[in-house]
Order: sequence, then structure tokens, then C-alpha cells
Amino acid sequence: MNRTKLFVCGLTLAMAASMSFAQDKKKGGAGDAAKGKEVFEQCGVCHNTDSDEKKMGPGLKGLFKKAKMADGKAPTEPNVRTKVNAGGNGMPAYEDMLSKEERDNLIAYLKTL
Ligand code: HEC
Repeated sequence: MNRTKLFVCGLTLAMAASMSFAQDKKKGGAGDAAKGKEVFEQCGVCHNTDSDEKKMGPGLKGLFKKAKMADGKAPTEPNVRTKVNAGGNGMPAYEDMLSKEERDNLIAYLKTL
């Protein structure tokens, strides 16, 4: 590879990086499901994601399509956020354990299940 090609290559990479950064900023609160999946690793001890079968807590496959959650509430985004934040009934509270961004990513991931 000659110098000019290297330079163009580097420039393209730099542009791509700054573009995706700009996109992230534009997206605002919308979470990143791929990152959410990593955050979810600590939830996996108690929750299945590939079925709705109960582990320690209810399986979360199709969570947002359920008629209701274990606590009787509808699985809307605000209710799911409240559950993750406040926990209860065997579910730990994550409000102080996860950042807002991590929780946004988590919700985006849960929506893919
Ligand atoms: C120590 C085990 C444990 C861990 C760790 C845990 N949960 Fe839970 N979770 C539970 C239990 C038990 C319930 C049922 C609570 C109830 O009956 O209201 C629950 C309920 C839920 C619900 C409501 C589902 C439904 O159908 O009722 C969601 C959503 C949820 N957890 C998400 C998470 C997420 C996201 C994490 C990780 C950040 C997590 N949980 C970590 C035990 C756990």
C-alpha cells in the first residue's frame, strides 16, 4: 500500500468514527441493544432470555408481548423500567447499580427478546 492510499484509508476511518459518534448523540435516550446484551449478563443468573420459563425470576422472552408481568402490571416500557429500577419480590433494585445509559441499553435489548 502506498502512502496516499494509507492516508485516504485513515481519513475514511476517522470520518466513519466521527459520523457514528454524531449519530449516537442524535439518538439521545434510545438505547443500544448490543450493549444492553452485555449489561444483561448479570441478569442472566436469574432470567432466561430464550424462553419464558422461570429461573429465579420469570423468563423474559417476549416480555413486552406478555399480558402482564409477575407483579400484575402491564409490561409497558415505564413499568419495566420501574421494575428494573426498584426491583422487589426477589428482584434486586438496579437504580444505583446501573447508569441511565446502561438501563436504556438494557431496555433496548429486552425489546429484542
Ligand atoms: C437475584 C435474581 C434476579 C436478578 C439478578 C435479576 N432479577 Fe429480574 N426478577 C427477579 C424476580 C424474582 C422477579 C419477579 C418479581 C415479581 O414477582 O414481581 C423479577 C422480575 C423481573 C422483570 C419483570 C418480568 C415479569 O414478567 O414479571 C423484569 C423485566 C426483570 N426482572 C428484569 C431484570 C433485569 C433487566 C435484570 C438485570 C439488570 C434483572 N431482572 C436481574 C429476579 C432477579
